[in-house]
Amino acid sequence: MPEDRRRVIVTEDGPILVYGPVDVEMPDGTRVPSDRAVTALCACGRSGRRPFCDTSHRRRVRGEERKEYDP
Ligand code: FES
Repeated sequence: MPEDRRRVIVTEDGPILVYGPVDVEMPDGTRVPSDRAVTALCACGRSGRRPFCDTSHRRRVRGEERKEYDP
């Protein structure tokens, strides 16, 4: 894999993991930098620290069923 390509991992029922420093652009155009080795971006919409994951995706909501990955 060429060095200039970032590795991005979509997890099941969890965050999107981005390897390397990133600037996350928000809907209003602001940029949120992350210099972490791996940045976990919230994909569930429950995080209180969006755009970053705060592990809120682990909480089960009553009546919510676990989604199965079906490409
Ligand atoms: S993916 Fe972890 S809080 Fe949303």
